[in-house]
Amino acid sequence: MTTSHYHDVLIIGGGAAGLSLALRLADHASVAIIMKAPERNGSTYYAQGGISSVVTTQDSFKSHIADTLQAGAGLCDPETVKFTIKHGPENIHWLEQLGVPFSKESLNSGKRKLHLTREGGHSQRRVIHAADATGKALSDTLYNHARHHRSIHFFPNHMAVDLITTAKQGLNAVGDNQCIGAYVLNKKNGHVETFQARDVVLATGGASKVYLYTSNPDGSTGDGIAMAWRAGCRVSNMEFNQFHPTCLYHPEAYSFLISEALRGEGGHLLLADGSRFMQRFDERGELAPRDIVARAIDHEMKRLGVACVYLDISHRPAAFIISHFPTIYARCLELGFDITKEPIPVVPAAHYTCGGVVTNLQGQTDINGLYTIGEASHTGLHGANRLASNSLLECLVFAESASLDIIEKLKTPTRKSKIVPWDESRVTDSDEEVVVSHNWDELRRFMWDYVGIVRTNKRLERAMRRIQLLQHEINEYYSNFRINGDLIELRNLALVAELIVRCAMERKESRGLHFSLDYAPADENSIAKNTVLTPQSPSPENQNPSISTIKTTR
Ligand code: FAD
Ligand code: SIN
Repeated sequence: MTTSHYHDVLIIGGGAAGLSLALRLADHASVAIIMKAPERNGSTYYAQGGISSVVTTQDSFKSHIADTLQAGAGLCDPETVKFTIKHGPENIHWLEQLGVPFSKESLNSGKRKLHLTREGGHSQRRVIHAADATGKALSDTLYNHARHHRSIHFFPNHMAVDLITTAKQGLNAVGDNQCIGAYVLNKKNGHVETFQARDVVLATGGASKVYLYTSNPDGSTGDGIAMAWRAGCRVSNMEFNQFHPTCLYHPEAYSFLISEALRGEGGHLLLADGSRFMQRFDERGELAPRDIVARAIDHEMKRLGVACVYLDISHRPAAFIISHFPTIYARCLELGFDITKEPIPVVPAAHYTCGGVVTNLQGQTDINGLYTIGEASHTGLHGANRLASNSLLECLVFAESASLDIIEKLKTPTRKSKIVPWDESRVTDSDEEVVVSHNWDELRRFMWDYVGIVRTNKRLERAMRRIQLLQHEINEYYSNFRINGDLIELRNLALVAELIVRCAMERKESRGLHFSLDYAPADENSIAKNTVLTPQSPSPENQNPSISTIKTTR
């Protein structure tokens, strides 16, 4: 018999977005948070630099808005930018009240105030942080509050496979599609359970694992984006995957990030001969927006045929470096580099998914009862290139606005639906697990080679052909064998890869993070348009809008 659960709200994901939302809802609703790993494993936990917000009188909303719009290369939605930035200070205040241990500095009066650091693209110091481990401080605080609230129920090791909608269940007329839950794999016992809820929220993070080299932890496989697409939501701007300029270049720590705050506090990018190069690319030097810095590094590495460049902060006092960057200092020391004395070898790596599921300012998607918040969403804040530290801000602000919308709707009574349970009767155990791991590697490698920092039409076509071949194999495998975590992620990654390449093929210009040798950079005055992909409407017969041969529910 299938296990089924019912809560007012089902939140898929326990990062900054999911945990904040749960806390904001908990006094009004019963909330389930499912997380696919045994522990919190999203990007939030690893965030270093901080959260951008206007918290001093020297700074202004106008300036933060202008910096965000400029980094976004003409493609941000100005209303979303204004909305997010104006709601920043109240969210920082909320976090302080919850007890997030942000770094402070002492004033002459003896009082203490938030220490603000700086990152690329910001014209002011406005990044609130907890040394260089802001994500851990944030995640620990939110989690500790959430796990003690009796209305919040955690389900670790539970992985959402697909959303349950009335259209897929054949429960309503076309045009009135409602999300009523999700099929969820209990990774402990291998069975698929049913989670039903009045409202379902995707807070599943980004998709940077689609690339071979990434700063992201294992879970960033775009599951929410893929599930929303299969359920019938529009997905937008997937061509804008952000590459962070400075990940550690070391065989034992490929995904370890060296925070942009290191450059904000005076770090220089160097070539092997010790010369600086960023001024040749942008007058803001090391503090130019991320797309420009990552592309400059990529250019220099290819020009010189070298495997990395260097980031040097050793000219600052050792005590300053150790107190501001204790995590980075300790990790580098473990690997044999003393950053107070020598430069750090660095390379760009995939870092952030600027596109995602299309939402409004309340996080509502195209499907009633389905919200998406955090990195999985496309709200219009980031445009063609996200400004540093605006992501955690977006998680917090949209968790707040979605919560208000959900709480308002909870006042209306609703009925439970009868859900068709997951059917495992026609599948067997796989005899060739190696197919899954091989396809994972192949996908991530060709995405890195063909759909990376610099693209061409030909490379995109090559990638698309390979994606289609892989999808064919994956779908066959998915239809015949019992599902597991790796297969679900691979299936989602292949779909997300398709969405990235389709968006990239649609964009006939170079803009922000999408740089193609076949198109000149967009003219500053040219009209900027989002790339919006619309799926065919799902139905019980057409379970997957992207690929008609595969089943999403069995
Ligand atoms: P995440 O924190 O990624 O959480 C996703 C959650 O969803 C996880 O709990 C995961 O288990 C769960 N999940 C995913 N799929 C499923 C599924 N199918 N079923 C069940 N659960 C699922 N941004 C900033 O603003 N400032 C920074 O300083 C900063 N530093 C960063 C440093 C690093 C190394 C990285 C990787 C990112 C950084 N970012 C930073 C970006 C930022 O951390 C992320 O964009 C943000 O944390 C995303 O939060 P989220 O809640 O949307 O998702
Ligand atoms: C960093 O600390 O460099 C990451 C900041 C971000 O991704 O916003």
